[in-house]
Amino acid sequence: MKQQTRPRPDKGVGVTTRDGPLLRLEELQLYFRATVGVVRALESLSFSLERGRTLAVLGESGCGKTTLARAILRLLPRNVDTYKGRVFLNGVDIMQLGEERFRRDVRWVGISMVSQAAMNSLNPVVKIGEQVAEPMLINRRSTKEEAYSRAREVFRLVGIPEAFLNRYAFELSGGMRQRTIIAMALTTSPGLVILDEPTSALDVLTQASIMNTLKRIKQELNLSFMFITHDIATSSELSDQVLCMYAGQMVEYSKAERFYREPLHPYSQKLMASVTTLREDKKPEFIPGRPPSLLDPPKGCRFAERCQRRFERCDEEPPVFTRGDDKVKCWLYEE
Ligand SMILES: Nc1ncnc2c1ncn2[C@@H]1O[C@H](COP(=O)(O)OP(=O)(O)OP(=O)(O)O)[C@@H](O)[C@H]1O
Ligand SMILES: [Mg+2]
Repeated sequence: MKQQTRPRPDKGVGVTTRDGPLLRLEELQLYFRATVGVVRALESLSFSLERGRTLAVLGESGCGKTTLARAILRLLPRNVDTYKGRVFLNGVDIMQLGEERFRRDVRWVGISMVSQAAMNSLNPVVKIGEQVAEPMLINRRSTKEEAYSRAREVFRLVGIPEAFLNRYAFELSGGMRQRTIIAMALTTSPGLVILDEPTSALDVLTQASIMNTLKRIKQELNLSFMFITHDIATSSELSDQVLCMYAGQMVEYSKAERFYREPLHPYSQKLMASVTTLREDKKPEFIPGRPPSLLDPPKGCRFAERCQRRFERCDEEPPVFTRGDDKVKCWLYEE
């Protein structure tokens, strides 16, 4: 694995530098080795997330949303080919931390994650109270008593009755299982929680109820969320900013209010037009074609082949253009 290593002075990750964003990525790149070549899963990803804010990460299946989350938390598979760039948490470049320090100060502590479909992987033979208390006991961070007291607190926060501490996962509904997983991610009081498709396996009423809970938690705890989803309608309820991805790259990074009203990138526009609404008499659109192979993506814009606004320049790699604080990777925005 090729990794940039630049030893730097040992600053505390937990020491919050109030000026500057909570999370900032600079040119994050992650490639995998496959039998047929190198999969360029993430390329030149740069964005930031302020404290107490929610960033929605949008894009169709396979665009790299989960890979991005795992790259930030350094939860990497064995077949990594290249992993480089910079990831700053509270101003500290966590890419430079040794594995032990990363485990002690970053994973679960600074940033926790609700993994895609995690609600199906709760341990069936351990009571859920014990599973929620467990992150507090890793590395002997707390006593058992403290961990259980915290478990009760987070159960209240996510709306699970305290009596459920003694239940097993099979005794819970899907919604309650998902709340349990969210509770686990909150036990260690992280500054950032990454939620990877937290409601996609649930019915719409349960989805709405969990979204309301997340909104309340965000306000109560002044937490930052990175909310990964391909469900645009749901994402609009929680997000302050949107990162729209296509084939392993950022295509747009905009304030949510702008993104949902007037998306910039032709791909973001198509994505928005694909949302079904019951109120308007308008058929949802779909985008003909498929994303390019990540084994050999085009040199120019990766969306060009499916883009109705394609022109000659699109065959050159587009730089990132800015519109106020928003960013878009498309030649249409060249000044
Ligand atoms: N270990 C790996 N080795 C090779 N390729 C991988 C590996 N992990 C992920 N990929 C590839 O990286 C790309 C991004 O996958 P990822 O799971 O991040 O997509 P996603 O946006 O989360 O999709 P979904 O919405 O379906 O969850 C896909 O093309 C996937 O096949
Ligand atoms: Mg995914």
